[in-house]
Amino acid sequence: AEMTVSASQSEDKPTCIIVMGMAGSGKTTFVKRLCSYLSEKENKSYNINLDPAVIQSPFPAHIDIRDSVKYKQVMKKYQLGPNGAILTSLNLFATQFDQVIGLIEKKQGDFKHIVIDTPGQIEAFSMSASGQVITESLACSFPTVIVYVIDTVRAENPNTFLSNMLYALSIMYKTKLPLVCAFNKTDILSHEFALTWMKDFEEFEDALNSDKSYLSTLSRSMSLVLQEFYENLNSCGVSAMTGIGFDSLLESVQKGAKEYAEIF
Ligand code: GTP
Repeated sequence: AEMTVSASQSEDKPTCIIVMGMAGSGKTTFVKRLCSYLSEKENKSYNINLDPAVIQSPFPAHIDIRDSVKYKQVMKKYQLGPNGAILTSLNLFATQFDQVIGLIEKKQGDFKHIVIDTPGQIEAFSMSASGQVITESLACSFPTVIVYVIDTVRAENPNTFLSNMLYALSIMYKTKLPLVCAFNKTDILSHEFALTWMKDFEEFEDALNSDKSYLSTLSRSMSLVLQEFYENLNSCGVSAMTGIGFDSLLESVQKGAKEYAEIF
């Protein structure tokens, strides 16, 4: 679909923040913190839950996939396992997503941000056709930015860092939207090392040298692609637990929204 929000139109539209992150990244805690941060800083955000299987949503959702699609029933009716049922639920919901856009547009004067929480199984959304349909519908109607949450503590392992970066890169290429990397859990470990690795590939190579596995050979050959990716990447360090870094996260999101306006 064509992206149709022009720069002048996008100025008074709320910015849509789609939050993704691997299981254990702290995405749920992050989304909760982001919503409470926004409601203190400005007015409340408009929140959408797209995780059909979540038992307790981290925020009071204005729109909740669970209200229209019953995950457990989908599992039974179509004889599916947990992941298949998440995918099918998303497919069912994607077919009515134009109505969701209509609902947001009616209320859009009342808030500055739309926060979208995606399924805990990241690939169910990021790599699926329905995830793509939903992302494109949002991006056609609002300036849209992806926030990719990373567990900084785990990313201290260079191979885990690389996997995260490749995943973020594939999401960016697939959606063609501005992406912000939020290095989470900086209350435990500063993300300074990650910034160094992104700035200076030799530093990253040194870290990898302790590991002679196949993956480190691969990552060396990926270096050129990654360097270009890093140059255009917005990143910041946050702690979803303590709330550190959310001012700079919001700045990165605003920068992303500006990029969106320049692209589309
Ligand atoms: P989903 O996949 O969305 O279900 O969630 P998740 O596993 O990505 O994140 P969740 O918020 O459940 O967090 C996973 C663990 O990390 C929990 O034990 C959190 O308490 C912890 N955690 C999340 N954010 C932070 C943080 O900023 N600092 C610290 N120290 N721990 C965190």
